[in-house]
Amino acid sequence: MSNVQDIQSTYQVCEEWVQNIQQVLYSDVKIKECVSSLAKQISEDYKNKDLLIVGCLTGAVIFYSDLMRELSIPYKSDFISVSSYGSETTSNGNVKMNKDLNIDPKNMHVLIIEDIIDTGHTLKWVKQHIQNKSPASIKTCSLLNKQERRIVDVSIDYIGFECPDEFLVGYGLDFNDHYRGLPFIGILKTDCYM
Ligand code: PRP
Repeated sequence: MSNVQDIQSTYQVCEEWVQNIQQVLYSDVKIKECVSSLAKQISEDYKNKDLLIVGCLTGAVIFYSDLMRELSIPYKSDFISVSSYGSETTSNGNVKMNKDLNIDPKNMHVLIIEDIIDTGHTLKWVKQHIQNKSPASIKTCSLLNKQERRIVDVSIDYIGFECPDEFLVGYGLDFNDHYRGLPFIGILKTDCYM
């Protein structure tokens, strides 16, 4: 869906935001199917394990909250918040923690939930940080993987979509903390950030 009028007639969302969307890449329907399928796989893989799902604030919140409601096994839930520094569009590996876990993950099976992996710096840092707390295992799940932009090697165990190297917003993803509430993931028009 690339026409602004089509987007507006399909979704009851902020008109100002929709005007800045070049194209809808993943519709709400497509995302829902993908989240359900990931939840099914995760529920099978973590049967009879002490699972702790860790959402990375802020981008992962919508994916995290939809995913957790589709899990059919018991789990504990927590959040972590880190900031990566660099330019407005690329992190450089300098990571600062804003909020640590509330739950001690020792001997638990941790699943880190992200909205997108770009350079890989953030996930690598979060993974190492949790690894230092002696969990039983750590795996990672990201709705989107922007493989083309990877700088550091980090494994992702569950991936929703392999996405193109475009500026994506919606469903948790932001530009300058706007657009997170869009129910779809779309490509932001270039003139909004250039
Ligand atoms: C985004 C995203 C990941 C990170 C991925 O977060 O949620 O945490 O960037 O980029 P990387 O692979 O290059 O490290 P961001 O720092 O934009 O903050 P946000 O979650 O608050 O949107």
